[in-house]
Amino acid sequence: MPPSQSMEPLPDGGQAIRVGLDDGSLRRFRNRCPHLGIPLDWGDGRCLTDDGLLICSMHAALFDPESGDCLAGPCVGKRLERLPDPVAPAGDGAQHGA
Ligand code: FES
Repeated sequence: MPPSQSMEPLPDGGQAIRVGLDDGSLRRFRNRCPHLGIPLDWGDGRCLTDDGLLICSMHAALFDPESGDCLAGPCVGKRLERLPDPVAPAGDGAQHGA
């Protein structure tokens, strides 16, 4: 099954790219291209290619969905900022917050 991708608002006003990988694990990256510091998508929330890579809409940089490493384009050698996986509060296992 190819990776899936969606967006998630962050408490600081930013946005996270959520990527569901083949093995069922989840990656979250800040939606900010390391080339110019702008969002990867055109505002439609989509930045996953048919080949399962993340792509920046501005200059077509390609990113590994597992590591966030730039594989091709103007920011090779840089990577997306990986965000920690969401962690349920210890104790009751319930989701808290907005
Ligand atoms: S701004 Fe993303 S590749 Fe240039």
